[in-house]
Amino acid sequence: MEFSNDAQQMPARFRELKHKIAAQYPDFENKATTAWGEILEELAKVSKEIKAAGSNYIPQVNFADLDKLTEEDLARIRTRGSVVIKDVVDDAEATEWKNLLDEFVKKNPVEGFPEGNKQFFQLYWTKSQVQARAHPNVLKASVWLNNLYKFKDGKPMDGVDLNVPLTYADRFRIRHPGGHWDNHPPHVDGGSVERWEEDTFRACFEDIFSGNWRKHDPYDITNRVNAKADVYGRADQASIFRSFQGWLAMTTIAPHNGTLQVFPNVLLSNSYNMLRPFFTSTVSSSDALDAKSWKFDIESPEIPGVLPFRSGFQGPRPTEALHPHLRLKDTMTSVPEVNPGDMVFWHCDVIHAVETEHIGKEDSAVMYIPAVPLTPQNASYIERQLKAFEDLKSPADYGDPKNEQTFVGVGTPKDLVDLGARRAMGLVH
Ligand SMILES: [Fe+2]
Repeated sequence: MEFSNDAQQMPARFRELKHKIAAQYPDFENKATTAWGEILEELAKVSKEIKAAGSNYIPQVNFADLDKLTEEDLARIRTRGSVVIKDVVDDAEATEWKNLLDEFVKKNPVEGFPEGNKQFFQLYWTKSQVQARAHPNVLKASVWLNNLYKFKDGKPMDGVDLNVPLTYADRFRIRHPGGHWDNHPPHVDGGSVERWEEDTFRACFEDIFSGNWRKHDPYDITNRVNAKADVYGRADQASIFRSFQGWLAMTTIAPHNGTLQVFPNVLLSNSYNMLRPFFTSTVSSSDALDAKSWKFDIESPEIPGVLPFRSGFQGPRPTEALHPHLRLKDTMTSVPEVNPGDMVFWHCDVIHAVETEHIGKEDSAVMYIPAVPLTPQNASYIERQLKAFEDLKSPADYGDPKNEQTFVGVGTPKDLVDLGARRAMGLVH
């Protein structure tokens, strides 16, 4: 979809927002224009590197080695923004969770998509999910990921503890071979227009807006913990801070088996995405890659890739047409093959998509389990989520509450035995 000033899609106030941001950072036009040129140059270089490496570009580590990684390994994971952690859980245990889920969706009158051949389920409290989220290794992986973040100048913040993982209840999918999924094109979750509009969220990107984009640290937690990602309270928008989104594989999933794709350089995609609304192309699309074909322009309210949706906004959803320098056809990289019990994580700003095709022979089945640290905002969500768990209803982030009470095979607080798991769910403090 192309945006144009003739068919305005974003409310007029976003033109004022662009002017406000331009006024907030000294010499914004010059600095942003210089940065824009540098970012375009760097994207041309890095996108070649990504295309040449393919799935090997995504770092892979063994769960057992997490504490033995070198600074160089960690730097690579931080830059690429995604990581596969192998063998977090035993294959047999993850396979058993899949078997239980297969049974669950057969036995119970559950909701899911697509209608008639359900593969994506609006369920939160099946025993498999409750057990997987509570698994000590899953929680340990979460702590490790949370600790990739840093406090500015090393100063700890009240109520924030990267070593205390919280449990965020999300859904699962059991995708069958064949079919065509186009409902997850490249996108970023956890905040839409809020990334520009909400003052604290915008502060996460202040080095980009002030022209020092190379200094931008996607892992500086200072403003993340208080950023408000859901100003409009839109359903299906995470309101908490997830350091990394993630999933746990319950089957073997290779590229072309409906797996996850990521843009594997979070510094660059953030820098480009955040400055993109301040520039327009002056030429036809064939010359769009040349920096000379773009000019600073803050007169339109459009935020390319962001659109009004339900009570709020959706996106960013970068596209080839609107974000040509990301070269999404070349750079959206499928994660390498994973086996049951492996986990895949991607930083909360990473552009990701789900492959449209699944040409494999077995189900591509995952439970969505992100990494979440203890912060005051997250803790208050966990309190509300616990109430939903006790009532076996869908959690607050997912719209009208749906009931799971009558289903056979749900988990309950009694399933959570370990102190760490109980603390992660807010059952103990
Ligand atoms: Fe997503």
